[in-house]
Amino acid sequence: MSEVRETVLELLAQLGSSREARQYLKEFSSVEESRFAVVKVGGGILRDHLDELASALAFLHRLGLRPVVLHGAGPQVDTALAEAGIESERIDNLRVTTEEVMEVARPVIYEQNLRLVEALEQRGIRARGLQHGTFEARFLDRDRYGLVGEITAVNLDGLRRAVHSGALPVLTFLGESSSGQVLNINADIAARELVWAIRPHKIIFLTPSGGLLDRNGRVISAVTLNNDYESLMREPWVHSGMRLKLQQINEMLEGLDESTSVSITSADQLTRELFTYRGAGTLVRRGENIDIFESPDETILADVAERVEASFGRRLKPGWTAGLAQPVVLLSASRRAAAVVVAGQDGLPYLEKFIVTPEAQGEGLGAAMWQVLRARYPRLYWRSRNTNPITPWYFLQADCSERHGPWVVFCNGIGDAVQRERMVSEAMSRDPGWQEDPS
Ligand code: ARG
Repeated sequence: MSEVRETVLELLAQLGSSREARQYLKEFSSVEESRFAVVKVGGGILRDHLDELASALAFLHRLGLRPVVLHGAGPQVDTALAEAGIESERIDNLRVTTEEVMEVARPVIYEQNLRLVEALEQRGIRARGLQHGTFEARFLDRDRYGLVGEITAVNLDGLRRAVHSGALPVLTFLGESSSGQVLNINADIAARELVWAIRPHKIIFLTPSGGLLDRNGRVISAVTLNNDYESLMREPWVHSGMRLKLQQINEMLEGLDESTSVSITSADQLTRELFTYRGAGTLVRRGENIDIFESPDETILADVAERVEASFGRRLKPGWTAGLAQPVVLLSASRRAAAVVVAGQDGLPYLEKFIVTPEAQGEGLGAAMWQVLRARYPRLYWRSRNTNPITPWYFLQADCSERHGPWVVFCNGIGDAVQRERMVSEAMSRDPGWQEDPS
């Protein structure tokens, strides 16, 4: 086993660095086995990307991780109904399930479940199809929706047993009533109830789009709900499907641990998403609080100084904290992101230091910190070395920039040309505060 694990880790290292891969493997292995992840897979993925899906899941299994898989069969059921010449209606986003519809749908759903189980077994991975016994349900409204269930309880015995015996549990969206009537359950509701029952570390949605898309159709890397939810919901380009998804995720994450995150990605990007800092897809988290210390005490300044040193891998001059002019500290709850702002030219706020650990960058904590910084300081200037990996990102955040040898001076909200010029030369004359200058 450990030899396999080593080989797999080597493979993973090719995606990012082996440090990243090991860090995440450790993190994912530290939660109770059945609580690593719930993976929700749409029927479309089973139809078009079964191979990629099975190999990504098999990979996780070889690493000793046991995701709980929940899949739909929407497109397959639609096709079967069309072939049988049965009209099926949707009310309130629920498929009205007459006896006739159920007769066609049930075998199709089982068939899809078996296909995934078989695809995993063909890769030498133990998988267990759990077509029953997880979702206990009652009729939602028999007259209106037919055989549609409302979940009354989620029974985790079956999937826990599967996990503990080393098999991947593969669940469908079918539930049954206390008398054994099979009921159709809305996929999103089933996923939510399952997540609430398991309280997994990760929630994974596999979609063909590979993430939430921005107005230009590009995947948004990270969404921090605390900061971004309201503004995203106001954006006209956030179309109805995405709006719904965000609402559902927001609701789902409420009441779960702050460390829980949702990854929306595609089957073939899943490994990269899980085992690198940057990921591949959209990572959604509630986000952590960012505190502003308007007059930070010595302990906070000393703590931040230590983090700055660790982040740059250099030593600050002794007395650095004492020499800061009216410092204000912004600090995230996990202390993985921090900013120090001081009084600069004409009292203008100067961003003295800004740090975010690499893994927190992947979570979008840098962007969240930047938003808080922007709101507190509409006018701000700072500088960065050309060689600093964050410099390209600063170009995107700043509304002015000026290159000076190895440095770039940036600003926001400073329109006056004369003031800008003074600001630039002041920034260039500043002592960076390090013990010795690299050159
Ligand atoms: N690998 C980490 C995780 O799965 C971070 C992923 C970051 N992903 C992203 N799309 N920004 O939790």
